[in-house]
Amino acid sequence: MDRELSLEFVRVTEAAAIACGRLMGKGDKIGADQLAVDAMRAAFDSVNIDGTVVIGEGEMDEAPMLYIGEKVGAGGLKVDIAVDPLEGTNLVAKGLPGAIAVIAIAPQGCLLHAPDMYMDKIAVGPKAAGKINIDAPVKENLKAVASAMDRKVEDLTVVILDRERHAKIIKEVREAGARIKLITDGDVSPAINAAIEGTGVHMLLGIGGAPEGVIAAAALKCLGGDMQGRLWPENDNDMQRALNMGITDINKVFTIDDLACGEDVMFAATAITQGDLLHGVNYFGGGVRTHSISMRYRSGTVRFVDAIHKYDRKPLLIKR
Ligand code: FBP
Repeated sequence: MDRELSLEFVRVTEAAAIACGRLMGKGDKIGADQLAVDAMRAAFDSVNIDGTVVIGEGEMDEAPMLYIGEKVGAGGLKVDIAVDPLEGTNLVAKGLPGAIAVIAIAPQGCLLHAPDMYMDKIAVGPKAAGKINIDAPVKENLKAVASAMDRKVEDLTVVILDRERHAKIIKEVREAGARIKLITDGDVSPAINAAIEGTGVHMLLGIGGAPEGVIAAAALKCLGGDMQGRLWPENDNDMQRALNMGITDINKVFTIDDLACGEDVMFAATAITQGDLLHGVNYFGGGVRTHSISMRYRSGTVRFVDAIHKYDRKPLLIKR
């Protein structure tokens, strides 16, 4: 895939982040999401791809823009795209850390067409790749990850969404002795953080959105991390939805390659609110500063893009 595109994709996530970051803390998650969607949709118009949204804002009749099946781009390479213009709507509404604008791109057929339902997930960084097993007890996974990372279980930090449904795994992680970071929303950022040394995050566990699972898998693939996921249907409707999307075995364990495959996976994300890895959008007189990550599996390049977007043409004094 054309490597020039990797920076074009950053422009797309930057646009979404800049637009919706204005609503930080305003208690309007729907409004923030709409701003992000509109900006991302418009930004795609200048990218030279023939893209099909495979993970988006919903089915065609549910979402006017970035719906599943929608064509985006100005024409060019045929790719599938997973978008989440605002991952962590509540985080922006409340001004809490960890919200990002994010896209994953892969050749046609390389991103799982995940239904909009829950998925049980386990995600780790490169050192623990190949050592996780979603079917094994939490304690065993923690031991395996600790040993792969050459540290004690007590020295691991696991991120888990703070939900009632996670009471059992939280108890098991506590009993095993690992540290926990409970988050209110947004499980894509911590999955990425698990694969980057220095973030203080070593593992993501628990049930979150399946579309977010595919996006996280694309990022982890680029970073050499590992992930497994299993759909977590709540009712017959979810089962049917999975079936409609071609998933015949609801209990299937999806490996990272089932979720995002091929050599040409690409990923871009821009922070909206402050995160463990990326700085949130920062508006100043005359412009705005964004912080993004751009990754290509084929080259292994991980690029951090610290960008200043000027509204006026006045020279800028940049401090480091
Ligand atoms: P939104 O951006 O759509 O609000 O989703 C945020 C999120 O926290 C995801 O990161 C996570 O996978 C999922 O929602 C968890 O769902 P729930 O809030 O229903 O537990």
